[in-house]
Amino acid sequence: MHELEKTAKALVAEGKGILAADESDGTIKKRFDSIEVESTEDNRRAYRELLFTTEGAEDYISGVILYDETIRQSASDGTPFPKLLESRGVIPGIKVDQGAKPLALTDDETITEGLDGLRDRLAEYRELGARFAKWRATYSIAADKPSEYCAWTNAHALARYAALCQEAGLVPIVEPEVLQDGTHTLEQSAKATGRVLQAVYTELHDQRVHFRGTLLKPNMVLSGYEASDRAGVDEVAEATLDVFYKHVPAAVSGIVFLSGGQSDEDATAHLNAMNARGPHPWQLSFSYGRALQAPALKAWGGKPESVEAAQRAYYHRAKMNSAARTGMYAPEMEREAATV
Ligand code: 13P
Repeated sequence: MHELEKTAKALVAEGKGILAADESDGTIKKRFDSIEVESTEDNRRAYRELLFTTEGAEDYISGVILYDETIRQSASDGTPFPKLLESRGVIPGIKVDQGAKPLALTDDETITEGLDGLRDRLAEYRELGARFAKWRATYSIAADKPSEYCAWTNAHALARYAALCQEAGLVPIVEPEVLQDGTHTLEQSAKATGRVLQAVYTELHDQRVHFRGTLLKPNMVLSGYEASDRAGVDEVAEATLDVFYKHVPAAVSGIVFLSGGQSDEDATAHLNAMNARGPHPWQLSFSYGRALQAPALKAWGGKPESVEAAQRAYYHRAKMNSAARTGMYAPEMEREAATV
């Protein structure tokens, strides 16, 4: 099998998913502010070390997405993080986009930057141990959004990134995130998500990207977080699957959802409900940031004596999401674990 396809398949191996630990400096500062911890380089390093050294997490976690600073950092014993992950059978990945910037001549839409010099950066990241990469585009939902202009410019950039990754021997995770803030309905979310995916797969195809050596990291189709009558778990699962069946080629090796501000338990329940309706043409898995880390971050609170409690919290979420990979998760499993 082609090396890229092998890596893509390993990232969505049975019962496993991805930890997104690639928060940029600005985002990790926000996360640390929420627990009143100063965002210094060493605090960031200590926090990531706690996650990466959690005993047994490798049974549920196939890969970790790192940030530029993190891929160059080491554990307290001097082992570089990519080496540490590899030694546990976890594949190191790297966020390579340089953030969403205002898209010229639009009303607050964004275009993700980072293509200039990308070929050289990818070569360096591969040298540092990365075997896959991530690029995130963002879109919002409103009467006139996402615009065709925003959908196509981001799709073009995502495909240029994906082609460069494959040339460099890295699996591209293609992440078009339709933000679920606001008061939109489930139907509006489905329409926006479908529109965006259609543009993304047209560009990926036209730019010769080998679908089997890619993963898609999409939002789930949700009612807006501020909507008054929000869709339940089954409706979300059905609406999300319906959009993917229409717009994602079966050759794509896996769909690894982002959590995007859902509560950790909602993110698990939604993934579970989709897998319970399987089998599907693609593996349906997770690449969560907040939904894997939130309880661990809170339990840690920046205190060395709380590292073990934080690791237990992270391990638990990884295990619950692993159960959701097979449709075997039940909310009671949360309580059972809490009483052990
Ligand atoms: P969330 O799961 O917190 O949305 O983060 C995933 C991610 O990598 C966003 O780019």
